[in-house]
Amino acid sequence: MTTTTTWDPTTLTSRYDAVRSHTERLASPLSPEDQTVQSMPDVSPTKWHRAHVTWFFETFVLSEHEPGFAPFQDQYWFLFNSYYEGIGPRYARPDRGLVTRPGAHEVGDYRGNVDERMRDLMTTLDEGTLDKLAATIELGFHHEQQHQELLLMDIKHVLSRNPLQPVYAGRPRASCEPDAMGWVDVEGGLVEVGHEGGGFSFDNELPRHRQWLEPYRLADRLVTNGEWLEFMRDGGYARPDLWLSDGWATVRAEDWDAPFYWTEHDGVWLEHTLHGTFPVNPGLPVSHVSFYEAEAYATWAGKRLPSEAEWEHAVVQDGQAGAEATAGNLADDESYHPSPAPDHDGKHRLRQVYGDCWEWTSSAYHPYPGFHPPEGAIGEYNGKFMSNQMVLRGGCALTPAGHARATYRNFFPHRSRWALSGVRLADGGVARDLT
Ligand SMILES: [Fe+2]
Repeated sequence: MTTTTTWDPTTLTSRYDAVRSHTERLASPLSPEDQTVQSMPDVSPTKWHRAHVTWFFETFVLSEHEPGFAPFQDQYWFLFNSYYEGIGPRYARPDRGLVTRPGAHEVGDYRGNVDERMRDLMTTLDEGTLDKLAATIELGFHHEQQHQELLLMDIKHVLSRNPLQPVYAGRPRASCEPDAMGWVDVEGGLVEVGHEGGGFSFDNELPRHRQWLEPYRLADRLVTNGEWLEFMRDGGYARPDLWLSDGWATVRAEDWDAPFYWTEHDGVWLEHTLHGTFPVNPGLPVSHVSFYEAEAYATWAGKRLPSEAEWEHAVVQDGQAGAEATAGNLADDESYHPSPAPDHDGKHRLRQVYGDCWEWTSSAYHPYPGFHPPEGAIGEYNGKFMSNQMVLRGGCALTPAGHARATYRNFFPHRSRWALSGVRLADGGVARDLT
């Protein structure tokens, strides 16, 4: 993880308070019962997220630097460790919903205790130690923001399983039709990708390096529900010729016939959202589709998915890479659902780059050339997941503001659908080899 930010105790503490209180704000509409349920193995209970991000600060900051450190509770290091082998054994992920104690209120006590100790530490450390520790604390901020997004994705699934169709928050959009998809041409050539100075990045965004890109073009907006309905009407989920072999096997095994949160009632497709269940809105981006579905759709459309380098370079070329440019339908908008593409005003610009839906790419999640994870348990943060996953770019409507950037590499397994993921098409450039 890298950062070029220089922190002073006041700014660091105030950023700490802002990130931590936002998590509590997201959890506040949820009852202790809501916060306890684990509706499938990929989903973690809300209170687990709240405790785990707290564990991160207690384990990686307080345990190493707090004078006279003693854990808040003897077993939490085991209970709220997610995947760090270097820390020790951990409670089984698929069983997190069985942990009825500590309850949601006790998790709040844990958070309050760690917050107090973190504030004490940040305001009393000498300048040299603070300089060294600030990068880990800042990583804790970005880690907690990742879990803020996961908390929303996960509670969406939890609430989807309740026949009372409870509402979390957000607001429905009026039904709308998509405008015509435009295209943005990119010259390609020898380009540089990866994070370069200027603020925080995760280790997987490094090192910056060169890649060769053939000329290509990217769709100026995401694929919509209306277009996805066309794909379905054309037998998209019933035609093996459109699917990768593993994708087709998954369609058959899982009985997929529509995006994850769609259900059909009396011939009408409905979609579960965080603000209720409504008829599928044709003008909104399609969401909660897997890599396999995205790839099959692109094949059906006679296009392809962009590589992650194509995505990143196009965004840079389009002038949307700077921190000031990373605006979009992110979680601060509180719609908690993808929005229609804004009017393009006749300009050929990429729309919906940040927010709305994480965009599947054709790139496997592999280390960049020269990648080295940091020493110690913190090195497990990203590097050990670099197999059997695909990269997604851009952020979604559940991503906290300030947590999206052009070089950000999200990743999920090919079949994942509970993440808020969508599709942007590419064309030109690399020819498809069907031999
Ligand atoms: Fe985590």
